[in-house]
Amino acid sequence: MTDQTATPRAFPASAPLKGRIAIPGDKSISHRSLMLSALAVGESRVTGLLEGHDVLATAAAMRAMGAAIERRDDGEWRIHGVGVGGLLQPREALDMGNSGTSTRLLMGLVASHPITATFVGDASLSGRPMGRVIDPLAQMGADISASPGGRLPLMVRGLAPAIPLAYRLPMASAQVKSAVLLAGLNTPGITEVIEPVPTRDHSERMLRGFGADLTVEVGGDGTRHIRIRGEAELKPQTIAVPGDPSSAAFFIVAALIVPGSDVTIANVGLNPTRAGLVDVLKQMGGDIELLNAREVGGEAVADLRVRHSNLKGIEVDPAVAPSMIDEFPILFVAAALAEGRTVTRGLDELRVKESDRLSVMATGLQAIGARVQESEDGLVIDGTGGDPLPGGATIAGHLDHRICMSFAVAGLVSKAPVTIDDIAPVATSFPNFETLLTGLQQ
Ligand code: S3P
Repeated sequence: MTDQTATPRAFPASAPLKGRIAIPGDKSISHRSLMLSALAVGESRVTGLLEGHDVLATAAAMRAMGAAIERRDDGEWRIHGVGVGGLLQPREALDMGNSGTSTRLLMGLVASHPITATFVGDASLSGRPMGRVIDPLAQMGADISASPGGRLPLMVRGLAPAIPLAYRLPMASAQVKSAVLLAGLNTPGITEVIEPVPTRDHSERMLRGFGADLTVEVGGDGTRHIRIRGEAELKPQTIAVPGDPSSAAFFIVAALIVPGSDVTIANVGLNPTRAGLVDVLKQMGGDIELLNAREVGGEAVADLRVRHSNLKGIEVDPAVAPSMIDEFPILFVAAALAEGRTVTRGLDELRVKESDRLSVMATGLQAIGARVQESEDGLVIDGTGGDPLPGGATIAGHLDHRICMSFAVAGLVSKAPVTIDDIAPVATSFPNFETLLTGLQQ
């Protein structure tokens, strides 16, 4: 799954972006639709599935544990599940590639099944902390041996029946929440996750959609108590995956900062736990119009019309961070072009993503001539007020798809091209990113 030969790519200044695009399916929802379909009894059908490397790693792992998964020529995916409790022992290590979501959620599933699985990944994933899922899953009875620092490669020996747990999340993480809930699926009794700060709720929505007995109670202080009754029987579903707001983000910002642009992005998922970027960009003066708001597969969706705007720097409220956690790299690019200062704080989680996104973005933006200071938990950026950046540097993407795409967009508004040292990681979440970009430049 890891590309051994680097493919550098230069992104020069762009003509106005114009036209209409549809972005690929949501990565989070795609992972979950494969996992839950693989645990249902019978055949599920999924359309709009993101066919990026991360999601394909999940598909391969579910196949290795017994599910039958096929892609039809018309793009529909059909999945025959094994039933909760029915996962089989994989014969080889599960190769998670670059995907933290696959790793953490699948560790949860394996933890309460009577099987043992080894998880391996690329250099980026092998540097990321897994202690955050090892802790609760070990409390549920799984025996997990990890590499030093709680990292990959690691082995999970599941326990069935596992021990139900009430677990308070120590950090805002949908992946940790989901790992515990998925372990709870095959655990007798009630497994509870206590979530002080809301994170993306796709797991809760989809578990309910598949027929699991899952309740959410919100306390006076906003803390969410999510309870799932285990030994569930999941019923197969037909799922239409909405477009990924985290992928749309690159084109939203590109249209806002490339002068003369007017772009419509169709079918963008706008679940409130994911839509923080649109609110923040509007506060900065971004002209983003929501058209044709509707619901697809239990998720809010709209088309977005985005026109070039004179953005203004703001202080970003740290409370919105979880609802746009993957969008900060591209927000930093928008801030570098805005008028005045943008201040971000409370972003320590960005340091443990596919790369240390605070450090990598600060270094890269400085290299292309932006004024950026890095603090412990955020960046302070003084924008150009719409003037192009100098550009003319080669950026290390650190196997991080969102870093690569953020600097590709920065190149569109730079005097000299911005070169990404290796464009290949983009395919983990957005395989047709360059094709869509070229289409808008015609
Ligand atoms: C994801 C949750 C987020 C996000 C990741 C996908 C998910 O991670 O960064 O890209 O699908 O649950 P954390 O929950 O660790 O913040």
